Amino acid sequence: MDDYNRREFIRTSLPGFLGLTLALPGITAMATRANGKEGRLDQSKKINWDAFLEGVAKESARQHLDDWNELAYVKKVQAIASQLRLDDPVLLEAFKKAEVGIGDGSIDFDRLEKQKDFQISYLQFEKGEKIRHHDHPGMTGVLLCATGELVTENYTLLDEELDESKELKESGGQGAEGEEIAVKRVLLKGAGRTVLKKGGTANLTSKQRNIHRVEARKLSQIIDVFAPPYNRERGAATKWFTVDEERYRGRKGVYEAVLG
Ligand SMILES: [Fe+2]
Repeated sequence: MDDYNRREFIRTSLPGFLGLTLALPGITAMATRANGKEGRLDQSKKINWDAFLEGVAKESARQHLDDWNELAYVKKVQAIASQLRLDDPVLLEAFKKAEVGIGDGSIDFDRLEKQKDFQISYLQFEKGEKIRHHDHPGMTGVLLCATGELVTENYTLLDEELDESKELKESGGQGAEGEEIAVKRVLLKGAGRTVLKKGGTANLTSKQRNIHRVEARKLSQIIDVFAPPYNRERGAATKWFTVDEERYRGRKGVYEAVLG
């Protein structure tokens, strides 16, 4: 197996990254053979990269079973991720490659693994860099902070219909300036704010906490585990939100958001 396939470095926007993830099937075939010898499990109960992949592959394979429990799954993967050696050579190589992105004013992405049931990505944030509110359609996610410190805020989409509203279009984009456009509004329930430091983990499931924003307090590197992985449909279905900071009609922890 071409070890290089899973290390190809990508520096692009998040939507661009999703597109590239979909477009390159060559990364799907990496086998998860654990080396089975020294180094898989050290004396501190830390595991190496191959053992980490093996554990995630085993747990994520359960998503096809009728009794798949997403919350139980993400908690197991968080436990596995907590055991990962953060000085594993695979991560050190990713950190090294990402050094070129420091100072470029954008978040840097790397794709570490993609298999049938899951994918693992690497992201590097500089201080103050953020990814605004977005969802992960039909997916679970586990974040592991490898270095630095980030704040994540999660939200759960409420199943309450709000009327579309009309807004006057300003300049830019398609359509004439001054034209009325429909704006889709939704309600989000705040689902917690987490400060992630080195070794810390966070989760989201397809129904709970699925929407989040992430902001770095210092230079930070994170590992994302998504199951199922992005495909064409999930990439295209990803939604972005502008969240009103004010509570919605005084309802505790509920916020109105506009799609887009
Ligand atoms: Fe995300």
